[in-house]
Amino acid sequence: MRIDVFTLFPAAFDWFRSQRHVRNALDLGLELELVDYRATTPLGAGQVDDTPFGGGAGMVLRVDVVDAALRERYGVDGASVRERRRVVALAPAGRALDETLVCELAAEPALTLLCGRYEGFDQRVVRHLCSEELSVGPYVLAGGELAAMVVCDAVVRKLPGSLGHEHSALEESFSTALDGAPEYPHYTRPADYRGWRVPEVLLSGHHANVRAWRLEQSRLRAEGADGPLA
Ligand SMILES: C[S@@+](CC[C@H](N)C(=O)[O-])C[C@H]1O[C@@H](n2cnc3c(N)ncnc32)[C@H](O)[C@@H]1O
Repeated sequence: MRIDVFTLFPAAFDWFRSQRHVRNALDLGLELELVDYRATTPLGAGQVDDTPFGGGAGMVLRVDVVDAALRERYGVDGASVRERRRVVALAPAGRALDETLVCELAAEPALTLLCGRYEGFDQRVVRHLCSEELSVGPYVLAGGELAAMVVCDAVVRKLPGSLGHEHSALEESFSTALDGAPEYPHYTRPADYRGWRVPEVLLSGHHANVRAWRLEQSRLRAEGADGPLA
């Protein structure tokens, strides 16, 4: 899979790229590239934004700047990039990221993520250069970089070989293996800590009972109940 993230702050992704599951995926062929809008801006002095028509606070990321970055990166008209790969603008009011969307994106051969800053994009970026807008939640971040990392993290976990244990990604919260329900609770040693005991069934060694208990816990969580010791 090839993921390009367009941003004003490529260095923000250094930590993300160094994470184990991302490195695993990179070693196995994932391409995760950062593209700096400033590097190809057609404006002087690295300008990328401008004041909003109609007035108001804040600056707006310019459409010609984003168009130039896409054109330079893909060697075609910026408006035609979305015909070849999914071009996603990060935006608070976009389609909410959930497990379904993560799986959709992970199945794409190539993905372009556009990070906004300031007041966000000139609407013509969304209208003419993007396939869609995507939100990581109903709140406003200062920029799209953290949102892009959330998207990349969730997507990269789905790629074969990214996680040490392939099973981890098969049966986890919202997976089809659990009918979309939250995952069951986990416990580890010590079995008794300050009188807070691990549920006996997990210590029983009876696999069928453990399985039944886990599925029941998952179902209860889906219905909004807390775990037995919560
Ligand atoms: C300060 S925000 C702009 C907010 C915009 N003026 C509004 O009210 O919707 C700057 C950039 O951060 C990113 N961003 C902020 N919150 C986000 C969210 N919840 N999901 C995805 N991207 C987000 C977007 O790329 C956005 O263009």
